[in-house]
Amino acid sequence: MEFSTTSKPIPASGISPESLHEEISQLPKEKGWRGLQGLFLYKNFWFYPAFLKGALHARDHFQAQPTDIFLCSSMKTGTTWLKSLSFTIATRGHRPSDDGSDMTTASLRTAVPHDCIPFLEFHEYSTAVRGSEIPLFASHLPYTCLPKSVIDSDCKIVYICRDPKDAFVSMWFFLRKFVAGKNSTDVESFASIDEGFELFCKGSSSHGPYWEHIVGYWEASIRRPEKILFLKYEDLVEDTQLWVKKLAEFFGCPFSAGEEREGVVKECSFESLRDLEVTKSGKDEKRGRVIESSAYFRKGVVGDWRNHLSDEMGKKIDVIMEEKLMGSGFTF
Ligand code: A3P
Repeated sequence: MEFSTTSKPIPASGISPESLHEEISQLPKEKGWRGLQGLFLYKNFWFYPAFLKGALHARDHFQAQPTDIFLCSSMKTGTTWLKSLSFTIATRGHRPSDDGSDMTTASLRTAVPHDCIPFLEFHEYSTAVRGSEIPLFASHLPYTCLPKSVIDSDCKIVYICRDPKDAFVSMWFFLRKFVAGKNSTDVESFASIDEGFELFCKGSSSHGPYWEHIVGYWEASIRRPEKILFLKYEDLVEDTQLWVKKLAEFFGCPFSAGEEREGVVKECSFESLRDLEVTKSGKDEKRGRVIESSAYFRKGVVGDWRNHLSDEMGKKIDVIMEEKLMGSGFTF
């Protein structure tokens, strides 16, 4: 992989939060999940204001380079894992030495994956905008909401999706933790799992409707297969080595014949990342809100929804997905 080009961080001087507030305030709004701020409808997707502000700012200011690579996903579908794998693949052979003298500025041992690869939507507010030269960015934005320059520059995109039942359960636990973190341990104000479920099924969830998020990237990946790599969390679990190989090829830094992939897989495994000191003690700060890094590592298994949703609920989401995805050619 070529390390000499990079997209520029969004200049802080260009930020105009007032005008963004104004634009957001004109959008259709609904209450959203109890205990959280309301959701705003932008280009047919629901957003919490913190995400939307960053999305609009990126729309207006982000200049993608053709060499950039975007890791895109809906919330709680394996973003952290994809970031860690991508970062490890892209920087192998270029890791910082103990005195930090090499060309990359972070390693997974000392920085959580979210600090190694910045989110487009949070870039301008991040206190730790990376100084490294690796052109990897992440985004939760739906395909149609990506900045025009990302599409126009024809840069590569990797999209990861996940069984909606597990994604919903993961999101509910994550947001509940987030709400609890804001106000001691009081989670009473947060939507019950049943309430959250009903809203998710209606499409009213962060970056929802969930199925539209998937369809946007799925159809784009069919139109531009050489530029958009589409993967599923479940496939990644089933054969991580295979996908590590595919990711490396897609990034343009394939593994050589004798080069082993097992190390990458192990380094980025759920247990390895969860047990790192930086995960246990780290905090992810976004727009003044603090999320403990450990919150990104809950269980990391396929099918955990069965422990939290009834069979009927599972069936209900499956039927909705089938209906909504019909005609797109995508199936879980
Ligand atoms: P669970 O809540 O089901 O455990 P995201 O990174 O998009 O926020 O997604 C978070 C989900 O990915 C969580 O799912 C989390 O446990 C899981 N996850 C995080 N790191 C992982 C890894 N290295 N391997 C497998 N799953 C991982």
